[in-house]
Amino acid sequence: MHGMADVLPVSTPDRSHTMTLSPAPATNAPPAVQVARVRKSFDEVLVLDDLSLTVEQGEFVSLLGPSGCGKTTLLRMIAGFIEPDAGHIGIAGKSMVGIAPRQRNLGIVFQNYSLWPHMSVEENIGFGLETRNVSRGERLAKVQEVLHLVGLDGYERRLPAELSGGQKQRVAIARAIVYKPQVLLLDEPLSALDRKLRERMQVDLRDLQKRLGITTILVTHDQEEALVMSDRIAVMRNGRFEQVGRPAGIYDRPANDFVADFIGRMNFVDAEVVASDDVRASLRSHWGGDLKTIAAAPPEIGKRMRVMLRPERITMSDRMVPDAWPAVVMAATVLGPLVYFECRLDTGVTISVARSRTGASDCAIGSRTWLRWNDDDVQIVGQSVDQPYQTGDLA
Ligand SMILES: Nc1ncnc2c1ncn2[C@@H]1O[C@H](COP(=O)(O)OP(=O)(O)O)[C@@H](O)[C@H]1O
Ligand SMILES: [Mg+2]
Repeated sequence: MHGMADVLPVSTPDRSHTMTLSPAPATNAPPAVQVARVRKSFDEVLVLDDLSLTVEQGEFVSLLGPSGCGKTTLLRMIAGFIEPDAGHIGIAGKSMVGIAPRQRNLGIVFQNYSLWPHMSVEENIGFGLETRNVSRGERLAKVQEVLHLVGLDGYERRLPAELSGGQKQRVAIARAIVYKPQVLLLDEPLSALDRKLRERMQVDLRDLQKRLGITTILVTHDQEEALVMSDRIAVMRNGRFEQVGRPAGIYDRPANDFVADFIGRMNFVDAEVVASDDVRASLRSHWGGDLKTIAAAPPEIGKRMRVMLRPERITMSDRMVPDAWPAVVMAATVLGPLVYFECRLDTGVTISVARSRTGASDCAIGSRTWLRWNDDDVQIVGQSVDQPYQTGDLA
């Protein structure tokens, strides 16, 4: 792995452009994009707070977070439309300080397509090549090639007004990739599309990205989109990265309760450690019985911690089984292939349980159920945030 300093000098922006960059090891391509200790404020408000991120060649990385957390600002900074107050952007091992957007060789797609309405599909896609002095014959060949890649053969003569939303977005993507940019930057490119089309485009776009091997950074507030498409996800909040990692890792081992809550559904409970050794702990909460967990370094007895359990890690049984928690099914919500059951434990606390729709029919509202999970599905996510519960409540 490269240290940040191997590739990109960490120094003040005003003198960095005079520094030479050490060459990357011959066997190892430099990272496609490097974000090195970047800060940015608007009107004294810190929007990007000391962010660092390395994106490898060919990787698909999503910037995921709620509206206003700084995703677009970071993407526009990589593109060169915004200069950092501190830190650097590097592309293919070169510092981008003082390098204009046009010279960075990036393909950019925004949410609102921004196709030129009076130009045909062919002209929209070919325009970037024309400004790069590519001959007309070569231009037409390349336009054909990318139209084929995005599944729009034969659409050359159409005007944007004669295209559906999904087709417009395919043209925008074709336009972004036609001059073989070294990095593709996508800012919520699918969010204007209806759900079905969006899901289709997610698969198609990821497929295209893999075939071309093009390094891609996607901005999205849609966790499912990030989970489906990405090699890695950077979860952002308030201008900081809360966690950067592979989708499965972030989903299964969220770094904190913000990430756990933002990605998928989650049951949380505050609990006190009542037993602890080198590898496991028992915690007591207002759920009732003790929650057992396996942890690398369990907290000491007496500590109050936040604990989480994914709804789909809980199994339901209509018969009493050993170590199960008795509950009553209170409500059911169908969400695609899953049903979410609200189950009230005997202590009165309601927790969420997910089951696949097949085989869920035996869980009638009002019926008794026994809930089970494995110790390693119970995860300590940090210190407790709520008020202490009354110990007298625990029978
Ligand atoms: N040019 C600007 N001037 C002032 N504030 C800005 C500007 N651009 C973005 N902001 C603010 O920076 C924050 C992050 O914005 P943005 O990067 O667009 O968030 P996101 O894309 O995650 O929704 C927001 O509070 C936004 O209002
Ligand atoms: Mg945005």
